[in-house]
Amino acid sequence: MAGMPELRQAIVDKVAALYGSRFDVESEVTVTADATQAIFTAIAAFVRPGDEVIVFEQVYDSYVPAIETVGGKAVYAQLQFPDYAPDWAQVVQLITPRTRMVIVNSPHNPTGSLLTAVDLKKLAELVRGTDIVELSDEVYEHILFDGEDHASLCGHPELAPRSIVVSSFGKTYHITGWKIGYVVGPAALMAEFRKVHQFNVFTVHAPSQLALADYMQDASRHLRLAAFYQEKRDFFRTLLTETPFEPLPCRGTYFQRRATRRSPICLTVLLPSG
Ligand SMILES: Cc1ncc(COP(=O)(O)O)c(C=O)c1O
Repeated sequence: MAGMPELRQAIVDKVAALYGSRFDVESEVTVTADATQAIFTAIAAFVRPGDEVIVFEQVYDSYVPAIETVGGKAVYAQLQFPDYAPDWAQVVQLITPRTRMVIVNSPHNPTGSLLTAVDLKKLAELVRGTDIVELSDEVYEHILFDGEDHASLCGHPELAPRSIVVSSFGKTYHITGWKIGYVVGPAALMAEFRKVHQFNVFTVHAPSQLALADYMQDASRHLRLAAFYQEKRDFFRTLLTETPFEPLPCRGTYFQRRATRRSPICLTVLLPSG
């Protein structure tokens, strides 16, 4: 139910190699039917009617419907132009006794911003001494530009033990249609996650899991993704210099923001193929 042992082992090894935290293969990793299911399942596992969940505007489209489906209330924090960093002083004001979860997404869809080590420190201070659970959507963890590092909640000593961290093979290996992702988190939270996972998905198709476990053995396949997208991004931005569009900063993800003097911000997606 939690995923083929071969794939769970490969995930644990990858997370340990990249972020320095070694999760337990049996109790701290679950293979999911993509990130969308993982996010829904995590929200359903922890959020009860009347609970509040802090999300950051602009917010990825699946979070709020999932929160509302289980009777929770989304509470909106704003990301700040131009770098779309969280305003932690504002987030503090939004925390109430009903706050059950904070959802973060880095690299961020659609602004291309990243959480930094300082942001994680601020988040850790903010939730210290509470029972707030963090849900960290890190599906673009390998798509970073200009040598940026990904600050995963998996690698933060205070946040990792209280977070569910989501990743997606769809994003990493260009196999969105295969619908496979995973979550890692401490055993106590994972036990709750699996209570919902058991009855909304149960398990993910085995042949693809074995194929991915095999494919992951060559780490260069996920590690070279940044360079692959950087080349496309740089090419695209060079072409934009010949147009009235002005590219805005973008530190990760498939998404590029651009503006003209007259129009609001537009979005472009860098496709994996071609
Ligand atoms: C920020 C973010 N989270 C989650 C997802 C969903 O990923 P998956 O295709 O694995 O369900 C996406 C897909 O676009 C996304 O951009």
